[in-house]
Amino acid sequence: MSEEHTKPPVTTTDAGIPAPSDEYSLSVGPNGPLLLQDHYLIQKMAQFNRERVPERVVHAKGSGAFGYFEVTHDASQWTKAAFLNSVGKRTPVLVRFSTVAGEQGYPDTVRDPRGFAIKFYTEEGNYDLVGNNTPIFFVRDPSKFQDFIHSQKRAPDTGLRSNNMQWDFWSLSPEALHQVTFLMSDRGTPRTWRHMNGYGSHTFLWVNAEGKRVWIKYHFKTEQGIQNFTDAEARAMTAEDPDYHRRDLYQAIQRKDYPAWRLEVQIMPFEDAATYRFNPFDLTKVWPHGDYPPITIGRLVLDRNPENFFAEIEQAAFEPANMVPGIGPSPDKMLLGRMFSYPDTHRYRIGTNYLQLPVNQPRAEVHSYNKDGAMRYAHSGNQPVYAPNSYGGPQAAPERYSDPGWLVEAGEIMRTAYTPHKEDNDFIQAGNLYRHVLSPTDRDHLVSNLVAHMSDGVEQVIQERAVNLWRQVDANLGERLAQGLGQKSKAAAPATAG
Ligand code: HEM
Repeated sequence: MSEEHTKPPVTTTDAGIPAPSDEYSLSVGPNGPLLLQDHYLIQKMAQFNRERVPERVVHAKGSGAFGYFEVTHDASQWTKAAFLNSVGKRTPVLVRFSTVAGEQGYPDTVRDPRGFAIKFYTEEGNYDLVGNNTPIFFVRDPSKFQDFIHSQKRAPDTGLRSNNMQWDFWSLSPEALHQVTFLMSDRGTPRTWRHMNGYGSHTFLWVNAEGKRVWIKYHFKTEQGIQNFTDAEARAMTAEDPDYHRRDLYQAIQRKDYPAWRLEVQIMPFEDAATYRFNPFDLTKVWPHGDYPPITIGRLVLDRNPENFFAEIEQAAFEPANMVPGIGPSPDKMLLGRMFSYPDTHRYRIGTNYLQLPVNQPRAEVHSYNKDGAMRYAHSGNQPVYAPNSYGGPQAAPERYSDPGWLVEAGEIMRTAYTPHKEDNDFIQAGNLYRHVLSPTDRDHLVSNLVAHMSDGVEQVIQERAVNLWRQVDANLGERLAQGLGQKSKAAAPATAG
């Protein structure tokens, strides 16, 4: 190798001008003063002061990796989405994992849902599936999301997180209990991101080439197997290594132990939705597998670490509104709310042209009439800037790419809950999770985790209100919690419709 190749490049300013020194500022004599004309020093200081962008308002702490999604079962009978249409087809992906409530430096192993956000760089544009490691969520109306998050973050007076706020909100929001059961079980403290499942959580619409529609749910099942920390192990790890999950993923990929997930989908015939026993669009509910058995259609593999954390992970922008032809939203009000929220927060957090950053840029060509804005660098030359035009600008193809949708019966404009389906209430599925899915050890841990959490600064009146809800989830669970919290036992209250 010649000497030329072994020498590092010369440092430059950000304008590419060779820098005069890596260590000394420009001064009058060796002992100063410093000069305003030291443009390089000023550039270093000014750029440094602007290194941080606002952290994500939720899901601030996380990390991710690149990889691919491979089709193992042709899905074209249900969707015309090109990236799903032939066995063996691979689509590049970025996945970002996160915790919800803490800030950038928060420990990875706290009890919290984990984000599981996937960006598929498909030939028909980016498809973002922005889910969690839980198939359900705490609330079912986007109007409650901000209040829910406020209750999980820091109190206005102390600046501390508060179990009292959390239980106040949950005990006044019975629809949260299904997700709280999940969260307070050991699944609330996954051992690593590799050892947990990911879920699209919402119901989505799939449309095939003939225009036939089905409702679908996505489940990414870990091939590493589910592994969780107990509450004590998770707490210990917060002190031992606050970046444990970030480090684990990076190191696994570095040693070529590539984590993988099997994509299973549940498919509901379009017509079933109206009469299904649960509202299939209610994000606090699952579709029991006996009703709609999972079908494996693909495999997600992560095999490449980011080269630069800030550029590729911190600036990654996922948005549930990014759906490719053949995939659409469902009447899930949470999903519809999220379709506005994410692009709005990206414009604030990263900037108007966030979609031009390499990590967010689609692999498909962009031909749009949007223009200009801060930091725009990709452009369409002198392409016409309006449609319709006579000079060869892009033209939409509504006959090929119509919006997937469903019939909405006209009704009064109102603010109200979903119309309940015949088995809908807020407790039935949480009770089934407790009784039929959790093992006896899982149930014991759930009880001890709940007692510990509710004993930590939660006012008695809120504890009692919460226990009354748990009794409706399961009488035995409620009784065990009442005893654990030192409350007097009472007969189980009847379940009420939610
Ligand atoms: C109306 C309900 C919701 C609203 C308004 C909302 C809003 C937000 C916002 C503003 C962010 C920050 C995005 C950023 O700065 O990049 C975010 C991140 C995120 N949300 Fe939501 N969210 C909602 C519900 C949900 C649900 C139900 C899930 C999962 C099923 C979810 C999963 C995520 C994930 C995984 C991220 C992190 C994405 C990343 O890694 O960059 N959110 N959400």
